[in-house]
Amino acid sequence: MNFKNEIKVSPSILSADYASLKNDIEKVRIGGADMLHVDVMDGHFVPNISIGPPVVKAIRKATDMFLDCHLMISNPYDYIDAFVSSGADLIAFHVESNSDVKATIEKIKSAGVSPALVIKPATKAETVFPYLEDIDMVLVMTVEPGFGGQSFMRDMLSKITEIREQANKVNPGLMIQVDGGIVPETAKLCVEAGADVLVSGSYIFGADNIEKAINSLRQ
Ligand code: DX5
Ligand code: ZN
Repeated sequence: MNFKNEIKVSPSILSADYASLKNDIEKVRIGGADMLHVDVMDGHFVPNISIGPPVVKAIRKATDMFLDCHLMISNPYDYIDAFVSSGADLIAFHVESNSDVKATIEKIKSAGVSPALVIKPATKAETVFPYLEDIDMVLVMTVEPGFGGQSFMRDMLSKITEIREQANKVNPGLMIQVDGGIVPETAKLCVEAGADVLVSGSYIFGADNIEKAINSLRQ
């Protein structure tokens, strides 16, 4: 994976206007976003329902952007094929889900897609240590997954550093993504802690100047 920027920004379309999704995606692409964060929720793993494979497929037709799919679903293993054939470039699933972690990583990898693991706020950093060599990214949730517009949880910063330190030993190229309550001030704290991919929904899509908002997260 080659990205232009060292600190990458992945706007979450959860805060976009679903009725003009193509238009909103084009706005963040022009604004310099490095990838597009697609939040998939099943109403079981999290108390909210968002979108599924048909929408990912439509997005794939509408843009060349790198599609970073965050699955907040109970049984990710069962849906890997659907998201792969819909055009996902990276599939991130929760270590707390019901699926076998190793088997799910293998399934994503064998399809030629980037595997990533996600941890909820209550999950310890070391839970992902056994898998760091096999994945391309860890997503550290900085809010409880399920909804946009929540406040950043500062306690998550030490987990980012713990994962970065361990990754430096076993997989230095590992990306660390943060998701939830990311605004310039919290983005800075996360980058200092060791994160290099910033997901942001309400801050970016609520901004008058999207390009400026994206750049302000990188600084
Ligand atoms: C929350 C989602 C996030 C959400 C972030 O469960 O995973 O991607 O869109 O939204 P903000 O940036 O508004 O906190
Ligand atoms: Zn997300």
